[in-house]
Amino acid sequence: MSSEQDPNARLRPDLDEEINVSETHAVFEGATQATIRERRLNENGMEPVPLWLFLLAGIALLVGGTIIGKGGTLFAYNQDSMWATDWDPDTSGGPVEVTEGEALAFYVKQGAKTYGKCAGCHGADGRGDGANFPPLADSEWVTGDNTEALAMIILNGISGPITVAGKTWNGAMPAQGPLSAKELAPLMTYLRNGLNDVGDVVSIEQAQAAIDAYEQRGPGKATSEQELKDAHMQFLPGESMDPATIIDFESYQPVANAGGN
Ligand code: HEC
Repeated sequence: MSSEQDPNARLRPDLDEEINVSETHAVFEGATQATIRERRLNENGMEPVPLWLFLLAGIALLVGGTIIGKGGTLFAYNQDSMWATDWDPDTSGGPVEVTEGEALAFYVKQGAKTYGKCAGCHGADGRGDGANFPPLADSEWVTGDNTEALAMIILNGISGPITVAGKTWNGAMPAQGPLSAKELAPLMTYLRNGLNDVGDVVSIEQAQAAIDAYEQRGPGKATSEQELKDAHMQFLPGESMDPATIIDFESYQPVANAGGN
């Protein structure tokens, strides 16, 4: 067959003169190279993806993405915000996992986070604003031997006249409770050692005693300077903690049997 005589000559693939692909594949006359190529692809399982499959995949992605997005914390980037108190990163498995250390430094660090509740009024440095909000730095209510009064103020709020470092204030502070013992003990430790320099650690045991007293008294009524002076000018019951105590960062309690086996 010479190319002049062969009606399918124009359909022949270029490479092999001997094999006429158009004929081998029983292509009808008039087929273009494109349709021939299409057929070959179909047979090889490389057929183009149908439109409906495309749409289905798109819908699946949309629905899946929405579920994951709404599913909680995966994309909640604000968790490590400076004042977040419930941010409790799971460090297990990390190569340099630190699970214990000195009580004072840890309590001050944790307490500084809870102090975010107070900073808006009393100032980030605890010096108040000189007009409406009294100072916590150099306040005898914070630094004195009366941690029970301090806890009462925090948990119940306080209203009416109160004298701080020789100046009398007469405002109202809303209750800052309820707080857990693991929030209150570090907060009080921060007030006494981050904003002041007392040198002691309010223990979980003492914070719990304060919370028990608060619950017995009944939440909802702000305390007053008079009530504090009448009944709460004393240390909270329970042992305070030595600042150098090695504590467990999970329980906030002394590591039992440190160094033992
Ligand atoms: C909404 C503002 C506000 C917030 C928030 C607030 N306080 Fe107060 N606080 C006050 C005011 C006002 C007074 C004075 C109340 C009075 O005159 O009876 C006060 C008084 C005090 C006092 C006794 C007086 C002194 O200066 O020593 C302490 C202690 C105290 N606050 C601690 C805290 C702590 C700790 C927090 C956070 C857990 C906190 N406050 C949050 C407004 C606030």
